[in-house]
Amino acid sequence: MCGIVAAVAGRDVVPLLLEGLRRLEYRGYDSAGVAVIVDGKLQRLRSAGRVAELTAATAQNKLTGNTGIAHTRWATHGAPSEKNAHPHISGGIAVVHNGIIENHDAIRLKLQAAGYQFTSDTDTEVIAHLIHRHMQTAADIFAATCAAVGELQGAFAIAVATEAEAGRVVVARRGAPLLLGIGDGEMFAASDASALLQVTRRMIYLEEGDVVDLHRERYEVRDAAGKKVERPIHLSELTADAVDLGPYRHYMQKEIFEQPGALANTLEMVVNAQSLSPQLFGVDAAKTLAEIDSVLILACGTSYHAGVVARYWIEAIAGLPCIVEIASEYRYRASVPNPRALVVTISQSGETADTIAALNFAKELGHRHCLSICNVPESALVRLSDLRFLTRAGPEIGVASTKAFTTQLAALVLLTLVLAKLRGRLTAANEQELIQALRHLPAALSHVLQVEAQIKEWAKKFAAHDHALFLGRGIHYPIAMEGALKLKEISYIHAEAYPAGELKHGPLALVDKEMPVVAIAPNDALLEKLKSNMQEVHARGGQLYVLADRDARLVSSAGVEVIKLPDHAGILSPILHTLPLQLLAYHAALVRGNDVDKPRNLAKSVTVE
Ligand code: F6R
Repeated sequence: MCGIVAAVAGRDVVPLLLEGLRRLEYRGYDSAGVAVIVDGKLQRLRSAGRVAELTAATAQNKLTGNTGIAHTRWATHGAPSEKNAHPHISGGIAVVHNGIIENHDAIRLKLQAAGYQFTSDTDTEVIAHLIHRHMQTAADIFAATCAAVGELQGAFAIAVATEAEAGRVVVARRGAPLLLGIGDGEMFAASDASALLQVTRRMIYLEEGDVVDLHRERYEVRDAAGKKVERPIHLSELTADAVDLGPYRHYMQKEIFEQPGALANTLEMVVNAQSLSPQLFGVDAAKTLAEIDSVLILACGTSYHAGVVARYWIEAIAGLPCIVEIASEYRYRASVPNPRALVVTISQSGETADTIAALNFAKELGHRHCLSICNVPESALVRLSDLRFLTRAGPEIGVASTKAFTTQLAALVLLTLVLAKLRGRLTAANEQELIQALRHLPAALSHVLQVEAQIKEWAKKFAAHDHALFLGRGIHYPIAMEGALKLKEISYIHAEAYPAGELKHGPLALVDKEMPVVAIAPNDALLEKLKSNMQEVHARGGQLYVLADRDARLVSSAGVEVIKLPDHAGILSPILHTLPLQLLAYHAALVRGNDVDKPRNLAKSVTVE
């Protein structure tokens, strides 16, 4: 995952920036860079390699300076290149950036028309030129950055320095984490507190839309509306080797809120792409993916639910038959192998014993093509598979899987689209539209997280019950399954998920006024059917909790509470609808006083059968 460190001090900041990058290394990266202001001139060094190499280069070049910004970049497939490493420069302005700029194409065209020349393939360079352009009319770098940020769409965090104004750094955050470190006569910013513990424990966690003007002795925070605001200073109690909790109470909460960033990292390779390439799944993927005639998905728990969602995508969009099996069942079942099937294993840890055994069993049966979708690069599952896609969720510490699940879904959408394209089922126009939707996804997730306050109210009511039902239809049925699993594993409330049409075939007998029923109600082709199913619940006194889309014609009434998601995502809707369910489980567990990050009887990696 990409990392940002920035500093303004009276001393040489180069060693501080490099140490900050070194402490972010655990997040994964493959290129690094630093820019400092030396005697009124910007000097930049970048390396398509490790921070140690960058450090050696700074020593060799005797790089020193009192103001600087630095970055680790987790590049996409293919060789990570120096020209794409941050910082990116326009005139004397340098920018580092995490996240995705959705409208970078449109801004690039505008800037090119104005004479700006681009030297990299990144969306970050667009930001540098845009700020440079605003500098022609703005009073200073702070005003220019505020104006530029106003034009950017997407989820991102940036840090900016300019040689014209040494002793000043401007940072901004929207949808990607960023915090300030308040020193004694020096100021810092970083994407993760662990980078700053070497210099200060006094941290400010920035809020959505904040833009900050940092000087040695002072700082000014402007909120999303441009108003000057105060943000509280926290004293970090983090030890240098722990994964930072930041402003959150639990890892699960932190990981839920990290999802816009995790998805941005996972989708980084499509942000700048004009088209989707099979190479996303490995160098030899094009040949294999063109050869297969069906898909067999093997996984456990939450990862299995990701597989069930993918079945809907793969069959409807790529037109390939797809079977999804629980790994612990498949490994003992006498099934009929198909050597032309693509076996996809999905796992956060890559160490789940049942999934590994199922993959080995599939190979023994004669399956030849294996792809693993995994969050841990060196894991057993990845090593066992010819093709792979690494989700970039970052370390997931809470036992209940959250960001791993949504990044798995992102990976599976990409797989679907690549398969569809190889089969001539994706027009160029559709492909562009979907790439744009993927670019928007992190921002859409940030918007959806804003329903937390309403979900907390639901959670208080759920916490008082011992049972709950979750309903969904079509591709949202597995999302209902995931919602039920999350609720039971951390709140210990017994929860079941049903495809809503199944209600009348049995489970309706459970419904009375004591039964909360969650209905996932996106504005899709099945909404009218779902409404009839909700009516069945309502008529029996069941309490309905409905997650609807912004434009669905559903309103709260007696016995029916509706929360509308503030964004819309078309085929990506299952990803958006997952977040409120994670929040519901989290807050219900909190109300019940449970150990959210370590639920009873469960382990993070299930390495035994
Ligand atoms: C639920 C959860 C588990 C895991 C399952 C598979 O929140 O975390 O259901 O999804 O144990 O684990 P991985 O994905 O590591 O194979």
